[in-house]
Amino acid sequence: MLTAPSGTKNRELRATDRIEVVRTAVSDARGRGLRIGCVPTMGALHAGHLSLITAAREETDFVVVTIFVNPTQFGPNEDFRQYPRTLNEDIEACRQAGVDLVFHPETGTIYGQDDRTFVEVAGLSDILEGEFRPGHFRGVATVVTKLLNITSPDCAYFGAKDYQQQLLIRRMCRELHLPVEVCTKPTVREPDGLALSSRNRYLSDSERQVALLISQSLQLAKQLVSDGEHDIDSISNKMLHHLTSSPSVSVDYATIRNAETLEELSSACHSMVGLIAARVGKTRLIDNMLIDLPEPR
Ligand code: PAF
Repeated sequence: MLTAPSGTKNRELRATDRIEVVRTAVSDARGRGLRIGCVPTMGALHAGHLSLITAAREETDFVVVTIFVNPTQFGPNEDFRQYPRTLNEDIEACRQAGVDLVFHPETGTIYGQDDRTFVEVAGLSDILEGEFRPGHFRGVATVVTKLLNITSPDCAYFGAKDYQQQLLIRRMCRELHLPVEVCTKPTVREPDGLALSSRNRYLSDSERQVALLISQSLQLAKQLVSDGEHDIDSISNKMLHHLTSSPSVSVDYATIRNAETLEELSSACHSMVGLIAARVGKTRLIDNMLIDLPEPR
């Protein structure tokens, strides 16, 4: 259930699939001295997206939400065709959340038949998610660059749930000198710890129970570190052990990395992140948690 933040009553939403309409609306808003916030999404909006929209509303004056299921970030055997498409409900949720403009382009508006230009962030694209989803981050970096060029926001909002994605987008914006501030907002969780994801709707009731092993394993890693465990291999093994306590989980990775670089660690460092990708039944889920070393007493 999506609930509207306060103060959203009198804003009027426009929805368009045309680049020119977006450019004109954004430049009008900027001409009125407003700061532009952009929330790029693939639709199927849930409370996690709503928290990004709320942050954009609080921190900027004119909020654009993009809704585009980007084909280039899905591999040939992934769920592009089945990915949930709920445009009407999404637009309504945006209206209630006080969004000013929804951009929901067709694929042909974003990609030409013969496009030759792609954006790639070397290194960061090939590890973890990139290793299991070859080409995924090239698709993400390319579409985010296009969407930022179209909406030209002051701030763009991404969820910490896609931890590697937000690191990569930060780096890309910095290195390409894109004039945008990348804002990452915390993962929104169900009360039992399950991270919100558009793919959760694929889970049966029993799979949803099993999926809790993912956030529990991350919580376990955090707890072990806070109890003084510094042996990264031993922590990762315990995460893996907990995750695989159900036969319906198959793990792509369960690891603890440097939170800034995602480099592998031989021993604990100050800023770490636990990252998991696992399939529960047929549904592939990802989650992560930041893990800090406790301050020495
Ligand atoms: O996180 C997502 O929903 C997508 O990867 C994004 C950033 C909208 C690019 O398609």
